[in-house]
Amino acid sequence: MIRYEKDQRVPVTLTVNGREYRQWIEPRLLLSDFLRDELGLTGTHVGCEHGVCGACTILLNGSPARSCLKLAIDVDDGQITTIEGLARDEEFDALRQAFSENHALQCGFCTPGIMLSVAVALKHTSESDPVDWDDVLSGHLCRCTGYVGIRRAIKALQAKEGGEAKA
Ligand code: FES
Ligand code: FES
Repeated sequence: MIRYEKDQRVPVTLTVNGREYRQWIEPRLLLSDFLRDELGLTGTHVGCEHGVCGACTILLNGSPARSCLKLAIDVDDGQITTIEGLARDEEFDALRQAFSENHALQCGFCTPGIMLSVAVALKHTSESDPVDWDDVLSGHLCRCTGYVGIRRAIKALQAKEGGEAKA
């Protein structure tokens, strides 16, 4: 086990939304705090800070992950996508529009995490191998929508794209 001195800083290199960052950080810094406090990417929300609510979800090397459960140093050399990075993706426009049109958000606290998980799931779903949306959404706590609007948004998007519509 590596032991760190008090106030010691360690180097970390992370590619976030396509841009490489090299920083010196405290070894105990959470990835969620690194994104929010060091990089100013506050679209990554922090709710429970122990892996339950899903608000802090980011994509780590293309897969959804809880950024509150990881130390930034543990994902050194990783590729991270936050909601800010997805916002530059044209494919994301349709998802954003579907959420907006179907009232899939109210306060919006859970929304970045849910959108990241849904965006990845949509890429992997097909008629022959449909994604289990209960499973996807079970990783996210939304205290406002009752999930009705979120499911409606997914369904509308899939109908528009001609994919399977069971959400
Ligand atoms: S803040 Fe990370 S899961 Fe709740
Ligand atoms: S929209 Fe408020 S928590 Fe989900």
